[in-house]
Amino acid sequence: MDKILAAIYSCFLFIGCMDVTKVAPKVDTLGLQQNIELLEHGRDIYINQCTKCHNAVRITRYPMKEWEDKILPEMILESGLAPAESQAVTAYVRAVLENSLIEN
Ligand code: HEC
Repeated sequence: MDKILAAIYSCFLFIGCMDVTKVAPKVDTLGLQQNIELLEHGRDIYINQCTKCHNAVRITRYPMKEWEDKILPEMILESGLAPAESQAVTAYVRAVLENSLIEN
């Protein structure tokens, strides 16, 4: 019985993890060589600061133009991010949209 419960539990854990990587893919899955630290910082902000009012939104759900023209300016203001943090989260969103293999 315990084994079955453990199996079910680890199944949920696994699905949970898959979900996060779909919503905000890990930097090392993007196949990039440069600005890794900046992008890691951006992902960290995305997961921690951008989830204060709502769940993390799947980045590939919106096209870059919408992120840049509307969503990021508004949400950066909402979050009260410092300029360096805004830069990091913007770089991360852009990197995901340009390099993620996840389909819309
Ligand atoms: C202070 C609360 C707050 C924080 C912090 C916040 N958001 Fe939001 N967010 C909202 C509210 C409220 C809405 C829905 C209203 C709207 O669309 O303006 C929203 C909507 C969104 C949407 C959907 C936009 C649309 O047009 O449908 C996205 C994407 C988003 N937020 C991303 C982010 C990101 C990325 C961050 C971090 C930089 C962030 N949010 C931080 C409050 C917040």
